[in-house]
Order: sequence, then structure tokens, then C-alpha cells
Amino acid sequence: MTEQEQKLVSIIQKMTLEEKIAQLVQLAAPFFEGATNEGQITGPMAAMKVNEDVVRNSGSVLGASGAREVINIQRAHLKKNRLGIPLLFMADVIHGYKTIFPVPLAIGCSWDLELAEKSAEIAAKEASVSGVHVTFAPMVDLVRDPRWGRVVESTGEDPYLNSQFARAFVRGFQGTDLQNDHDRVAACVKHFAAYGAPEGGRDYNTVNMSERQLRESYLPAYKAAIDEGCEMVMTAFTTVDGIPATGNKWLMRDLLRGEWGFDGVLISDWGAVKEMIPHGVAADEREAAYKAIQAGVDIEMMSPCYIHHLKQLVEDGSVDETLIDEAVFRILRLKQKLGLFENPYRGADEKREQEVVLCEEHRRVARELATKSCVLLKNEGVLPLKRDKKIALIGPFAQNGDILGPWSCLGSKDEAIQLYDGLKMKVDPSYLFVAKGCDIETGTGEQWNEALHAAREADVIVLALGEHSDMSGEAGCRADIRLPEIQLELIAKLKQLNKPMVAVLFNGRPLDLHGVVDQVDAVLEAWYPGTEGGAAIADLLFGDANPSGKLTMSFPYSVGQIPVYYNCFNTGRPKDAPDAQERYLSQYLDIPNEPLFPFGFGLSYTTFSYSDAALSSDYMTPEQPIYVSVNVTNTGKVAGEEVVQLYVRDVTGDVVRPVKELKGFQKILLQPGETKKVTFTLTEEQLRYYHSDLQFTSDAGTFVAYVGPNSRDVIALTFKLVK
Ligand code: NOJ
Repeated sequence: MTEQEQKLVSIIQKMTLEEKIAQLVQLAAPFFEGATNEGQITGPMAAMKVNEDVVRNSGSVLGASGAREVINIQRAHLKKNRLGIPLLFMADVIHGYKTIFPVPLAIGCSWDLELAEKSAEIAAKEASVSGVHVTFAPMVDLVRDPRWGRVVESTGEDPYLNSQFARAFVRGFQGTDLQNDHDRVAACVKHFAAYGAPEGGRDYNTVNMSERQLRESYLPAYKAAIDEGCEMVMTAFTTVDGIPATGNKWLMRDLLRGEWGFDGVLISDWGAVKEMIPHGVAADEREAAYKAIQAGVDIEMMSPCYIHHLKQLVEDGSVDETLIDEAVFRILRLKQKLGLFENPYRGADEKREQEVVLCEEHRRVARELATKSCVLLKNEGVLPLKRDKKIALIGPFAQNGDILGPWSCLGSKDEAIQLYDGLKMKVDPSYLFVAKGCDIETGTGEQWNEALHAAREADVIVLALGEHSDMSGEAGCRADIRLPEIQLELIAKLKQLNKPMVAVLFNGRPLDLHGVVDQVDAVLEAWYPGTEGGAAIADLLFGDANPSGKLTMSFPYSVGQIPVYYNCFNTGRPKDAPDAQERYLSQYLDIPNEPLFPFGFGLSYTTFSYSDAALSSDYMTPEQPIYVSVNVTNTGKVAGEEVVQLYVRDVTGDVVRPVKELKGFQKILLQPGETKKVTFTLTEEQLRYYHSDLQFTSDAGTFVAYVGPNSRDVIALTFKLVK
């Protein structure tokens, strides 16, 4: 044991059982003296029935905002806490603190790991100067169902890509020296595990899958975050094989701590310990507390089972006190790692807060990332817009600051650059007409008349459409994922004017775009682009920046296809087989099998051609990798970035293998006429997968490597693995 750890043990030896248990409780800010909304304890908070002693001894605070509040709470706490143990302050800093970056699903579409890391670094800096020590991010749940509102928080449907982003976010948040670098915060990867697969895309609903699927697709991104040094893990609300994650001993004690060796802090999600009662695996709070502590949950977030029952569970011998000591040790060690014992106020600094938060440099990065996150889905010659044409900007997002997306509670909609403001920076005001046309879900005749008037004045119509930010995010699920009817009507009516139309979409999930794509000449998927959204979109619309984003989640043809994802299995009756029968195939009678826009897809204002794809050898061995190369040429007139993608298929396995799996990608910049040779290294290790006996190995035999601009339009090259 190190000297540092010895110090923690001696603190724990001085603690009473009550003091220890209180460290395992996380309370929201209003419980604490010094909080801005001190004492405003209503609803579920009041139901917790927390007494003074617990507050005095508690270990962490959820959701304080700003340096002053954090300093006030910490100061008051240290006066009252017998052993002077500082509080940990945690918050949901998901895609920015006050400078809001695009939502994570959009960041995924940038395929830009460096910029993603930078965004997390900036978020950490703004958060820590405002007193935050731990962020509840990154969320790395793999997502395949766009009905689920929380797909907006994930980087998408691919385990490899999600793992890369998980690592980038952890690096950005934590840096390399939390103890001394007070511009960083500890990261908490969530939601462990497989929260992204609720049945029917309904939040909190049952998750059911085989252990093999869990390991193959859903676990890698959490593991990647942990391998990158992520300090904390949060449980999922949902079940994993019939047992709620929060009480799942196999998942957390055996796999997370045992097999993976994670020894950081494990926190429940909000109220998830108590939710084991309605889940039906705990009869009461006492049993829920028992199951959670046995499973390894160190901190219970905002439910009272530990406070009310752990003491008695220890005293009657049901729970071994060493379990409590271990949990307290991990929490105190995190405080120590953050330097809180020496400096309980850490980075919190009101003066610096004013300088750092929302500063020029942060806004510049937000704009750059927003530019790279938008995905051009269609363009029939109308984009980029010409500055000598009159533009009608119409739609509920034309002049709307609700472009920050879910989990941006500290970001201000008033600080956000709206699309109209962005366009105004580009064109003479006399060339710009604006009208709402309708609200997000309703509309009036008057709004329509204004839209008609604006549209008549213009040469081109830019439609700003989308979902209200509450229509995605936690509990933001939708069964019908088209744009609200009124917006589809707006498009249809404007279409009758026969003017070129561009749709810019603000939304938190892949949508069913029928009624949009088929009506307009261009579609730019802008997601929720964050604080600098309007400026970034204007850069793209006018060609001052060239779109380079590529989808990291498939856009379904129709909701009836869901889940539809690129790395699916082939089935025994694939539709495109050379000997396929006419009817008895794995297909729909009414729609295609393919999504409307596949994983990896995105257009540019230039074009790229792929040629001379080649393998360094037609076989690979465990010792000798092969190199896959391809020449990519910019065949258009403007410079552009391209994400070159490498996929692999194992043709015959011990268990069925996906038709394609992403194994690598490179983002390159090409000037007009320029060619670059892109080379990927492919090793035997990258061909391993979980076999029927859960062994992680590879198969000798035939593989196909695919290179291309997206998961659909690829060049295939066959090779063998020889073992
Ligand atoms: C519930 C959410 O599921 C989780 O992602 C979040 O971090 C916590 N609430 C805390 O706000």
C-alpha cells in the first residue's frame, strides 16, 4: 500500500459506520447549506427523507452550478464535517459546459477524434473553473434504434468507432494529471451496460441479449474508456439478462471489477437502486440496498436505500462492513486523486470563470466542430448558395436558439447563434427574407401567409426544420420518427412554388425523411449544432466550409425496419444472393431492406474517386499483417475532406459474422485534382471475435476487406488468414 493510500485507511479507521455510509450517498445541491436554491427540496428529493447528519457527512453533490455556489457549499460543509472530508462535485457536462458543442451523435459524424478530444478538454476547463470535479460523461451506449431519444447522446451504432470516441473524450476530460491539472475533471463512463438497447426504443425498457452479443457489440466502448483511465462508471437503469444492471453482481463484481480490473468508483444512475423494487427484484428498499452493495455500487445517486438500510444490514451481519470500507476507500481515493484534500476548492475560481467560460477560443472550436458534424445528405446542384440570389429562410428553426440539444442546461439559448443570424453574416439583408411558417408541432394560417410572402420574394428557399430538443434525450422517445406533420405540410405547400429548396434539419436522432428528401433539392443534417450552430451552418450553406460529416447511425427507410444497422448478419436467405428465389427471402414486400442513408454516408461539394485498391498480400498470418491501400482523388473543383473507411467480413465463422465491420478510417484533406494513397494495417488481432464458447479468437479462412467512402459503396478485396 502506498503512503497516500495509507492516509486514506487511517481516515476510514476514524470514521463511524454512519459517516462511512453517508460517503456513499449522492445528494442534489439544494440539500446543502450555501446552495443557491438551498432547501428547495421537493418531489423525489423530499421523498428521500434525508436528515441533517447525512447531509453533514455526505460524500458528493450533484449539479451545483458555478464557482461561487461550489465554494460556498464546500466552505460550509468543511466547517461542519467532523473529519474535514471535502465534498466531490459532479455534473452532467456532456457536450460542453457553457460553450455548447454539437450533441455527441453529431460529434460522432465528424469522425474527428482530435477535435472531439479538444471539445472535452474545453468542457472540462469551463466546468472545473466553475467548481465541477466529475462529469457524467462520456455516454458510450451503442445505439441501433432511433426511436430511443438517447441516441443523441451516443456517437452511434459501431463498436469500434464508439470505442475510439470513448477514449478521445476520456483523454479530453481527464488529461494526464488530475491531481495537478485543475483544468481537467474526472470522467464517468455510462451507462453500464447496454442501456442503448431497450426493447421498442422505449426508455428504461427491458434489455435482453446474449452474453456474446453484449461482449461483441455493446461492451467494447465502456472497456475502451476504462482502458483509457476513466475514473468512474455509472450503472444503467435497465436490465441485463433479467437482472437490473444496478444490482447485477455478475456484470459489476465479476466482469467490470474482476475481469477488467476496474478499481475506480461505481455510481448508480439517478434513483436506480430504488428502482429495483418496481423492476421486481427487490421487495423493499432494504433488499435494493443489499443487492446494490453486493453488486458493487459505491455511490447511490438520489435514492435513499443506503442511508436508510445499510447500517442495519451491517449490524445484523447481512452485509460485511469491508464492502462499505472498500467503497469509501474508492471514493476518498478519487478525492485524493483530484487533489481535494489539499485544495478542496480545486479549480473553482469566480474571476477565471468569467474569463474562461464562453471565451472566443472556445467558441471558435465549437464552430469548427459544428461545421465538421453536419452531414450533407442530398444536393442536386442547389448548394452552395450563391450570394447574388435572394433567400427565403422559413421554418420553426429559422430564428430559434433551441439548437443546443439535450444536456445543455448551463448553455444559454440566448448565446446561441441562430440560423438567421448566421445567414445575416453572409448576405445583404435586402437579399434575406425570414418567416416561421409554422411552429414545431402546430401552425396558423397567418404563419403560412408570412411564409408564402417570404418565399415569393426569393430565388431559393432554405427551410429550417426539426424536432424540439425535448423530443430526444432522456425520456424523449418517439414511435413515429418523421418530422411533425405540420412541417411536412409546410414543405409540400412550398414545393408548389417550384423554387429550389434546401432543408436544414435540427434534430437528435436519425429521422424517417420521407416527405423531406423527396421534396427538396438539398438536405443538410445539422443535428443540434450547439452555441455556434447558425454560424457553422451558414459557412456550409455558402461554401465557405465544405461538408465532410458522415453518418454514424443509419437513417431508416421507414420505422418498420428498425433496428436497421450496417453491421448486421447475412441471414440464410439474403436478398442479393446470386441464386436467390423470388419470394422466400429475408425481405419486406413493401420497402427495401436497406436504410435510406447508410452508416458512413455523407456528401461533399466536391467528388472523390477511389482507385487502385490493393492488398499487400493475399494472405495474412498472426505474425504478418496485411496492408490495404487505395488511391483517393479529389475529382471536383474545391478542396474537401474525405473519411476513407475500411471494413472487414469473415466469410465463414464458428458463429455468424456481420456482413461488414468497421476496422479503420482515415480523414484526409484533398485539394482539387490531388490524389492521396491511403494505407490501413490489418492484423490478425482485428479479426478476432467471441466464438460460441466465448473464446476471443480468429478463424483461419477467407475474409473480405472493403474500402470506400461509406459502408455501402465499397471496393472488395479477398484474402486468407493462415494460422
Ligand atoms: C439520469 C441520466 O440517465 C444520467 O445519464 C445522468 O448522468 C443522471 N441522471 C444525472 O443527472
